[in-house]
Amino acid sequence: MSSARKVVVIGTGYVGLVSGVCFSDMGHQVTCIDTNQEKIDGLKEGKMPIFERGLEDLVSKSVNVGRLEFDIDMRDHINKADAVVIAVGTPIKEDGSANLDFVYRVVDEIIQNLSKDITIIIKSTIPPGTCDFIQKKFDESISQYKSSVVSNPEFLREGEAIEDFMNPDRVVIGCDSDKKEEMKNFYQDHISRNISVIFTNRITAELIKYSSNSFLAMKIAFINEIASISEKIGADMDGVRLGIGSDSRIGKKFLNPGPGFGGSCFPKDIEALVELSDKINADSKVIRSVNNSNKDRIQEIANNILAMTEPKDNICFLGMTYKANTDDVRTSPSIDIIRILLVNNRTNIKCYDPMGIESARKILSDKVTYHNNIYDAAEDASLVVIATEWDEFKDIQPEKLSNLMKSKSIYDLRRIVNMKQFIEADFKTKVIGLQDA
Ligand code: UGA
Repeated sequence: MSSARKVVVIGTGYVGLVSGVCFSDMGHQVTCIDTNQEKIDGLKEGKMPIFERGLEDLVSKSVNVGRLEFDIDMRDHINKADAVVIAVGTPIKEDGSANLDFVYRVVDEIIQNLSKDITIIIKSTIPPGTCDFIQKKFDESISQYKSSVVSNPEFLREGEAIEDFMNPDRVVIGCDSDKKEEMKNFYQDHISRNISVIFTNRITAELIKYSSNSFLAMKIAFINEIASISEKIGADMDGVRLGIGSDSRIGKKFLNPGPGFGGSCFPKDIEALVELSDKINADSKVIRSVNNSNKDRIQEIANNILAMTEPKDNICFLGMTYKANTDDVRTSPSIDIIRILLVNNRTNIKCYDPMGIESARKILSDKVTYHNNIYDAAEDASLVVIATEWDEFKDIQPEKLSNLMKSKSIYDLRRIVNMKQFIEADFKTKVIGLQDA
């Protein structure tokens, strides 16, 4: 039997669009649904709503072979499908919990329009227990059709999304035992390549997702604290990273110090896990402290910039996105740091980012100025701050900056620049994790 399935993916954000196009590349017949007409019109014309390496080519390949289409209305498609994948957003509410309105709206619409048995695969990040609740909703609905809810969290990173989806360390599937064979067929492509597929129940799969993100964020918060200690005592940050990362129980990945973690997942998922812990009276001190440590980190970096500048100074701020290779500035440490600088009278901030300027403009409006390249942003500046690890920042030429800047100072928040060159060019340098010279 062929393992190809008809799949409807609801939501064309990072997870939905990438999952949809990758499922179709794996051989499934996929329809991606989004209620945003503009997005769907754009996708039909080959315009991507997000910047993600390799996405445009893969979409065009799948559309051309007839395995991927887009629509705004799920009703014509769900009853022709073997599975519906829910991948809509779960933004954060004011109390820190996940807002599940979009998920429940989709579930209700499926229930109202169902005319066959169907598998509902949930990829949206939702608090443990939600899939069981959704299963109950289906079971208790007046529909005579049997639906089975599967939790299948996604672990892709922005910027590496296609590679992460196609070659993950593992696929996690939380389902009833009678769905196992069907899900194995669904992930036949991964299984045939010996990628580990972990089967468990729904609530465990949901907790795996929150635990993974919280644990990774904890590693970053930890190494950022070690970076601060190294700065103060003169230890070699790279040596520490190599020394601890070489212990296979710790591992080298996600131990790069920086200005704090950001993005639409880590801070939000930790908040949601803390909110869940509070609700069930679990005393999750470690998890709670991860976001607090990250907030302190952002303040610490801003304080350092304040100490390096005067209110009249121009500050050249390089990197607005929360990491390289994305245009996403949601919950970016850069934005938070700039906000702290602005309230502390550092109002001459000149920004540049290879991809994130337009999204940054929507948040910071005219409170800062936006520039087309590094050197425009550096003109008359007294300090250059490198906040994101974009490749083009690694090759900044000290001689070129020297001629433009008012006074020569550089602060590297990602440890990407060859500081020796800057020291030789008489720059005052500061690098996270390195004691000031
Ligand atoms: C994260 C997870 O890595 C994915 O596995 C998960 O699927 C995703 O969230 C999600 O839940 O959807 P993402 O937010 O795209 O992915 O980005 P990461 O590459 O994890 O980076 C997050 C933040 O941590 C960035 O601000 C980055 O600069 C920072 N970071 C990361 C560090 O400061 N140091 C590191 O060593 C790694």
